[in-house]
Amino acid sequence: MQMSAPTLRLDAMQFFGRLASDYHAMFGITLAALRGQRILDCPSGPCSFVAEAVAAGIDAVGVDPLYIHTHAELRERCESDIAGTIKAMSAHGDHYSALDLITYADSKRAALHGFLADYEIGRAANRYIAASLPLLPFADQSFDQTFSAHLLVTYSSPESGGILTNSPFTEQWHQAALTELLRVTKRVLHVYPTTTRTSPARRHPYLEHIVARLQVSDEWKCRYELSTYHRGDPAQNLLNASLVIERVSPDHATV
Ligand SMILES: C[S@@+](CC[C@H](N)C(=O)[O-])C[C@H]1O[C@@H](n2cnc3c(N)ncnc32)[C@H](O)[C@@H]1O
Repeated sequence: MQMSAPTLRLDAMQFFGRLASDYHAMFGITLAALRGQRILDCPSGPCSFVAEAVAAGIDAVGVDPLYIHTHAELRERCESDIAGTIKAMSAHGDHYSALDLITYADSKRAALHGFLADYEIGRAANRYIAASLPLLPFADQSFDQTFSAHLLVTYSSPESGGILTNSPFTEQWHQAALTELLRVTKRVLHVYPTTTRTSPARRHPYLEHIVARLQVSDEWKCRYELSTYHRGDPAQNLLNASLVIERVSPDHATV
């Protein structure tokens, strides 16, 4: 089905990250609740989530294709992407009027700062791994819980409800990426966002199809958890939620 125009449109993927407090808002989960578990963040980008989790005593790993780059290259790339994204958001001012874009940009710089402070030491300790969905270099069920934010759905094509012009992330890619995330997850996979970037927002069709398929398997249970993370005008996104996919019996084979 053809969507209404997106409230944001970008020509390239952004190396853009968030804080552990943003993960809390997106997924409703605190770091304290993750203690004693092995956690995957994919894609992790320039997020401070892994660094903050490790500082809280959690065994956390981040994956991103850009982790082939040096500290200096990633800093430069992220600073430029923060500026570019804020410019693009300012051009859609009506939709983001509830958001203070200066504070928003500051929080992205704080995430970058936390990430960079941990990057070299974390790479040496194998907690920042360069890899690309839909292929992850981990054994089946390696992680108790996996978090995947702002890649699936977000960077799908504007025609499907995402923001990326000429997106390579087709419905088939989403199916393969989600299957791979589930393969490496023992208990729960969390995905955010789940809605289109349209006004009003709808549940993204790729996810709806994937959830419909998983619902008939006896291995996974799916539900949506309301999210408090900002998604532009709140009145236009009453479906703001993460998708929670839980393995029915954690020792089963994968999908
Ligand atoms: C906007 S960031 C999201 C980071 C973080 N999860 C968040 O919510 O802020 C998107 C990230 O996806 C990464 N990416 C691009 N293609 C990817 C792929 N095929 N597999 C995994 N990550 C990918 C990019 O390098 C970028 O860092």
